[in-house]
Amino acid sequence: MKTNDIGLEAKESKVLVEKLNTLLANYQIYYQNLRNFHWNVSGPNFFELHAKFEELYTTANESVDEVAERILTLGGRPLSSYGEYIENSSIVEAKEVADSKKMVEAVRENLNTLLNIEREVLESAAEQGDEGTVTLMSDYITAKEKVVWMLSAYLR
Ligand SMILES: [Fe+2]
Repeated sequence: MKTNDIGLEAKESKVLVEKLNTLLANYQIYYQNLRNFHWNVSGPNFFELHAKFEELYTTANESVDEVAERILTLGGRPLSSYGEYIENSSIVEAKEVADSKKMVEAVRENLNTLLNIEREVLESAAEQGDEGTVTLMSDYITAKEKVVWMLSAYLR
């Protein structure tokens, strides 16, 4: 069995790297959507949402780096250009969104897309005995589910 530097089966890690790159691509578009909303939000909820979007993109920024470096740890190459991200992301770039409620709805939808990918990555990682990736995904999922709950409460 051919293994990578951390002793996991190279062939299996390669499959996981592909899934992690899908996650990375989606994460980058999600990140940029949050920046868009942070800049362009207006109205009576400006201060609240301006700050919330910043908090979320700061977290996303850290996660993007962690996912890319996990890919490298597994012996893969992280997608590194926006062209590749757009090509591999199912999250769509937000263009002009005027309504702040629509922004929050879009963030919640993006988070659910990320959650689905993370659950898929977690399942594959668990099958491969890749505990490092499992833990990373598990932490992301728990944190995101909480944010989705809070956004849902906001939207009710
Ligand atoms: Fe700012």
